[in-house]
Amino acid sequence: MNQAVAVIKEIPAILNQVLAILNTFMEMVLSVLLAFGVISGPSTDEPITLKDAENVNLAVVALADTHIRPTGINPYNFDCGIEDIKNSGIDFDALLIAGDLSELGDDVSYELMWDSLNKAEIENILLATGNHDIRVVYDLRTEQIIDKTNSFLGTEIDKPYYSYDIKGYTFIVMGSDKQLLEKAFISDEQLTFIDSELERATKDGKPAFVMCHQPLENTHGLPEVWKNGGIGEQSDKVREILEKYKNVFFLNGHLHDGVYENSLEILNEENGVYSVNLPAYGRENDYGEFLQSGLGTYFEVYDDEVVFTARDFRAGKALEGYTMSFTLK
Ligand SMILES: [Fe+2]
Repeated sequence: MNQAVAVIKEIPAILNQVLAILNTFMEMVLSVLLAFGVISGPSTDEPITLKDAENVNLAVVALADTHIRPTGINPYNFDCGIEDIKNSGIDFDALLIAGDLSELGDDVSYELMWDSLNKAEIENILLATGNHDIRVVYDLRTEQIIDKTNSFLGTEIDKPYYSYDIKGYTFIVMGSDKQLLEKAFISDEQLTFIDSELERATKDGKPAFVMCHQPLENTHGLPEVWKNGGIGEQSDKVREILEKYKNVFFLNGHLHDGVYENSLEILNEENGVYSVNLPAYGRENDYGEFLQSGLGTYFEVYDDEVVFTARDFRAGKALEGYTMSFTLK
């Protein structure tokens, strides 16, 4: 059962003004810390490398839970991740962010986020809404995130869920159709959309990617790691649709679980349907072998396999032992 949520149309101007002042102060502190070498950008010693750069069909960075807030240095930490991606020299085809773009859902945070994303120089940026984004001002924030997605992709998306093809591979982004505190509400219309898009996307044997902020129920350590941490009532219906098709990769955030054995969940072995939990980027993680903030994943798509690699983008470091290869069915 979801708790009641307050329905307001916009963040009060006074709160935005206070946050803007705090952000200006934090930027001054940051410039001093940088000048004295107390903090520094990502390492360039271990740049991102692809398994087979000559034959890769698609290379994608997938992050979640950036939780941008104007009152700390995590906007800078997010910029460091963007810098790490650029340091690789790899022309990534897409950057995915699986929701909770901001911590408070305030206007200042999104402006910081858009500034960072504009620096990324990645052709396709796909954003999902997370509960932190939409639980306070659902209509305004959903609309803004859709508008920003449209400006990145040149699309005319008008719903919190959509589908987008890159180099012949389909990405389906899910989003709650109504305002809830933690879970998502996936309408019948959205379920039908996911079903038909997956049918289209996978009919020639290509993998397809579905991004949703919340994980499926009973995956990635749920409910033990978080009693109310799953999608919610429509989870079984979503899973049933995913399992109908071959080579489907479901990507979720929300749990703030780092990188460990529970990051991968096999949903249907025969069809090659998997769930990959994306660690939180913008705050420390609660479970796992690697817990620090700044974590994320990148994946490479080849003719016969998909390779996922977890990474500390903030530090510019590889995470040993967390490359997973999936042979396509
Ligand atoms: Fe989150």
